[in-house]
Amino acid sequence: MAVLLTGGLGYIGSHTAVELLNSGEEIIILDNLSNCKREVADKIREITNKDFKLYIADLLNRADIEKIFEDNSISEVIHFAGLKAVGESCEKPLEYYHNNITGTLILLETMRKYGCNKIVFSSSATVYGNPKTVPITEDFPLSTTNPYGTTKLFIEQILQDTVKAYPEWSCINLRYFNPVGAHSSGKIGEDPNGIPNNLMPYINLVAAGKLDHLNVFGNDYDTKDGTGVRDYIHVVDLSLAHLKALEKLRNMQGIEVYNIGTGEGYSVLDIVHAFEKANDLTIKYEIAPRRVGDIATCYADATKAKVELGWKATKSLEDMCKDAWNYTKNNIK
Ligand code: NAD
Ligand code: UFG
Repeated sequence: MAVLLTGGLGYIGSHTAVELLNSGEEIIILDNLSNCKREVADKIREITNKDFKLYIADLLNRADIEKIFEDNSISEVIHFAGLKAVGESCEKPLEYYHNNITGTLILLETMRKYGCNKIVFSSSATVYGNPKTVPITEDFPLSTTNPYGTTKLFIEQILQDTVKAYPEWSCINLRYFNPVGAHSSGKIGEDPNGIPNNLMPYINLVAAGKLDHLNVFGNDYDTKDGTGVRDYIHVVDLSLAHLKALEKLRNMQGIEVYNIGTGEGYSVLDIVHAFEKANDLTIKYEIAPRRVGDIATCYADATKAKVELGWKATKSLEDMCKDAWNYTKNNIK
């Protein structure tokens, strides 16, 4: 029996693949390479010294997805595949709804056809919209501010309705906060196409001399230094949460949702200074206007994951900054 990772060559999927293989799980990866490189598969094999089946396939192609279930014995699915750029989702909403939602529907219908009824879904803190208070617990009201976020909310609803209708199903939605960092080997990490939207990859390209300076989007928020506060979580900690979720999924019925964050909020300037200190570098930055759609503060209350999954983030901000830079400097072209 194998665990299928959709989007398993992407940033979070590849790190989770490593941890699953290291823990002795059999895995299968499916990815359409729309936002990753095929070589990531070799890197996963190099790091773990273990092999797995890889399908270059698109979730939108029902025949291909059915063939994967036909040819393999899949016990659970971890569903990472999706488009994830907030800004792009506002420019191309139909593409985002089609890829993320239709792709998920095809996956769920195929799982049902082949009697696979256990799924972990990559949701996001974006489903909390602009929270009234922090830290955020799982029962906070849900809302979204962009099509990307709406796809996450809709998929959570689709999963809830599916589990309600088919009691033999079980599902865990993991609401990730801000994943950063990379595997300590420096072989896999975050490698966005073009100019990064997210803070940590942007800082890395400034450090590498590929970008002149960081634009700090706003210094007039109601936060300790006026810059936006987020809950940054090391991608390896996040990956380990999937192993705990899988363990829980195998012993439960119904649907659960967990925040996956550290519970600590750091400002943009905290991150800049931590990166400088961890890597003995200087990051040039300028204060720029607020970015449309950004909120002041977002961090998790991750108590539920600790109590029910036995999971807790253990890596420090220094680890996140060191590992991110280790990956960038080894892989920059
Ligand atoms: P990523 O883009 O690195 O990985 C997603 C992978 O899915 C890519 O390799 C891409 O090629 C693949 N993919 C996309 N559409 C597909 C399709 N139709 N068929 C097959 N493969 C497809 O992103 P990531 O950062 O690893 O994120 C993984 C998941 O976690 C996504 O669903 C994302 O929305 C969610 N998430 C990410 C963050 C973050 O900040 N990285 C935060 C919260 C939630
Ligand atoms: N920021 C800058 N300059 C930059 C990039 C970001 O100042 O060049 C600031 C932002 O204004 C924000 C903070 O850095 O205050 C973090 O921004 P990111 O873009 O790295 O992350 P977001 O919190 O905006 O969004 C991320 C993902 C979303 C996800 C959300 C919650 O991109 O997909 O975390 O999980 F929904």
